[in-house]
Amino acid sequence: MGGIDQAFVQEPEQRPKPSTIEVDGIPVIDMSVSGTGGIEKLASEIGNACRKWGFFQVINHGVPLELRQRVEKVAKAFFDLPIEEKGKAKRDDLNFTGYHDEEHTKNVRDWKEVFDMLIEDPTFLPASPDPDDEEIRTYSNKWPENPPEFRETCQEYCREVEKLAFKLLELISLSLGLPANRLSDFFKHQTGMLRLNYYPPCPSPALALGVGRHRDGGALTVLAQDDVGGLQIRRQSDGEWIPIKPIPNAYIINIADALQVWSNDLYVSAEHRVVVNSEKERFSIPLFFFPSHYVKVKPLEELVNEQNPAKYKEYSWGKYYINRTGSNYKKLEAENLQIDHFKTPESE
Ligand code: OGA
Ligand code: NI
Repeated sequence: MGGIDQAFVQEPEQRPKPSTIEVDGIPVIDMSVSGTGGIEKLASEIGNACRKWGFFQVINHGVPLELRQRVEKVAKAFFDLPIEEKGKAKRDDLNFTGYHDEEHTKNVRDWKEVFDMLIEDPTFLPASPDPDDEEIRTYSNKWPENPPEFRETCQEYCREVEKLAFKLLELISLSLGLPANRLSDFFKHQTGMLRLNYYPPCPSPALALGVGRHRDGGALTVLAQDDVGGLQIRRQSDGEWIPIKPIPNAYIINIADALQVWSNDLYVSAEHRVVVNSEKERFSIPLFFFPSHYVKVKPLEELVNEQNPAKYKEYSWGKYYINRTGSNYKKLEAENLQIDHFKTPESE
């Protein structure tokens, strides 16, 4: 039986399924609209995907391919630099932007390096997670010297992907039966960021993960992945991990926690993770779309009534974010803050 001791061999039905299984994946949605009723049809496809999966891919999304290729190129050039060079733009206790390679998800270290930058510079956030502390802190981006075109390329890319994020937000509002601009005001002073992820080849891909299982905390994530693959989402129906197939030039969109709360659980913020492999390096570029720090996140009034009461108590986005960000760098005693902590007793 292969090269391993029989004692290790599982009964056939217990063996891990090869990750290449072909499954019906998440929907692929064409964003080009034409004809009467085009927008409504698009919104309804998005609504269905948000209910069933919390994930979908979009094509014909309007972000220029040439710009995406340029940002991929600067990301690779940056991560190829010697560690001392990358470390010059390292995250520190006062500023969480920049390079780092010590992120933990659920207290286990991720097999990855990242570079984080704020979409808005400056960005305003609470100074501490303490609810009684009203101090607001101003954050600015840290930039590396090399490659020289890094800053300009990333900034240009942020602007384009942000446009896509706002467009998606409108379609999601429509899909909930609300006016297109219903959610837009929450993002007047948005606190989101762009992250460059680099997953080096891993000698023990069966033991480590690129990113451990988690849900994204913000409103929406707009992610570009390369052709290597590794992102998996947990299927709602049976808890199975489903690989998300790379589609050239598509974006992967996922509903994050605040949208699950605004929709009062109509839409799901799905659990996902990243597996690594022993041969290839992998790059991905998520844009995390976050509300203004002062937004109080709670189920939208239009979506709750007596039969269908609010499933969450309101929480401050800024305090929630700062609380979670603090827990990414270090091991904590307890699990970090999750929206489940704000569930109302009626919803249990
Ligand atoms: C994340 C994430 C997925 C990927 O950074 O939150 O889920 O494919 N990344 O890199
Ligand atoms: Ni994620």
